[in-house]
Amino acid sequence: MLSKQGKNLNITVLGLGYVGLSTALVLAYLGHQVTGLDIDSSKIEMLKRGTIPLFEPNLETLMSRVQERVVWSSDNHISIPHADFIFLCVQTPVLEGGQSDLTFVEQVVSAIALNLQGRTQIMVNKSTVPVGTGKRIKSLLERKAGRTLADRCQVVANPEFLSEGSALIDSLYPHRMVLGGEIEVLRKMLELYAPIIQQTFEPLDFVVCPSGYTQPEVIETTLESAEMTKYAANAFLALKISYANEMANLCEHVGADILDVMAGVGADRRIGPHFLAAGAGWGGSCLGKDTRALVKLAEVYDCPLPIISAAIAVNYQQRIKVVELLERHLKDLKGKRVALLGLSFKPHTDDLRDSPAHDFIADITNRGGRVIAHDPVAMKRANTEWNHLDYLSANSVEEALQDADACIIATDWPEYVALDWDRVVTSMKSPILIDARNIIRRRLKSPIILEQIGRKVLGEANYPQVKP
Ligand code: UDX
Repeated sequence: MLSKQGKNLNITVLGLGYVGLSTALVLAYLGHQVTGLDIDSSKIEMLKRGTIPLFEPNLETLMSRVQERVVWSSDNHISIPHADFIFLCVQTPVLEGGQSDLTFVEQVVSAIALNLQGRTQIMVNKSTVPVGTGKRIKSLLERKAGRTLADRCQVVANPEFLSEGSALIDSLYPHRMVLGGEIEVLRKMLELYAPIIQQTFEPLDFVVCPSGYTQPEVIETTLESAEMTKYAANAFLALKISYANEMANLCEHVGADILDVMAGVGADRRIGPHFLAAGAGWGGSCLGKDTRALVKLAEVYDCPLPIISAAIAVNYQQRIKVVELLERHLKDLKGKRVALLGLSFKPHTDDLRDSPAHDFIADITNRGGRVIAHDPVAMKRANTEWNHLDYLSANSVEEALQDADACIIATDWPEYVALDWDRVVTSMKSPILIDARNIIRRRLKSPIILEQIGRKVLGEANYPQVKP
């Protein structure tokens, strides 16, 4: 479909991860001619066959609807010279010391510089980059392509806020759009995004508009402020989660229930109910990486960020705490069989990056235990990406729990929430459940030991005195 305001533009998207793929497909849906570029030729081959190389709800369906307007390629020459907009969606991994690794950004900017032909183009950076990168991109273009060509290429910072698992909902119904750059070029961005800003696009039958949604708030600002907004937003989300975990740890001592406490806290509109779920803490490709990068960036300016540093420490301590809870019940993990439910860092994705489950497996095996793992979608990916870890794969929850000495629930997959826990624990050797996502919300009839984070309510009758 072509929206009322939409002109049919040529758009190139560089980097086809969650952000790049969603951006490419949504822009094609808005009526533009899109080329998706990635250096990974196996990914390109999959896309050409109509398969999405990652697990993200509904992306494949959208791809089948817009395929006549999308070309997938590894060849920069085919599209960069003709593009009206070039979207940078490459990953910015974290270096050993915590700083952002801008190698991929620099590589694609160099590739763009080699393909500039004097046409007016807008380069939109969606990758999360340290503050100041927009200006660095501009000067890199100048160095590689010369001032005259580089001057025709404008740079915009447009950080992406989508969450994995809800990429299309977040792209079509975003709560805010942050655009950084010169006023003239921002006007062109507003035109490009008009169908989304004004919500005039034809809704997709398989992407449900969040209830109460109207339209996004648009924040127009400078390159630096836009770049900083992404870090500041992710750091705040990270803070909220670590705050909930810190409160949960105290709740355990004072006999309070973190679910009730956070319900009360989050009902204050100034705080809000989101990102206050205590548990195994955050994982994923963004919160850990971005908080560390922010701390590193601040160090450059000799401006310490003690609150963010503490949030990072609390988060990773939480992972150790979960295994210690397990050990407290099993006494010694040597030779013990531990069922691990959930490998992905959160439900509705197969993304394993910085997943708490990774650290659980490593820690349990270090302490002599054996892990039998299950995940509804991430098993395949784990079998290739987690070769360095020692664990067995189970085809079902039942298989994982069979004869297990204990079980850790690491990801809040709906499948696990809906399980008949009274039934499934019966095959365990000893029914010890460490529910690190607080998903079991009703009192179980079976005689079990149930540990949750920040609450000691459900397993009361069978609860052992674990602490004086
Ligand atoms: C995050 C940001 O939400 C998104 O705006 C940004 O663009 C990228 O980083 P994502 O990494 O996809 O998105 O995951 P998110 O939904 O934020 O969850 C991050 C982690 O925090 C998950 O491991 C989740 O389980 C955990 N989490 C989330 C909690 O432990 N408690 C909560 O209350 C919320």
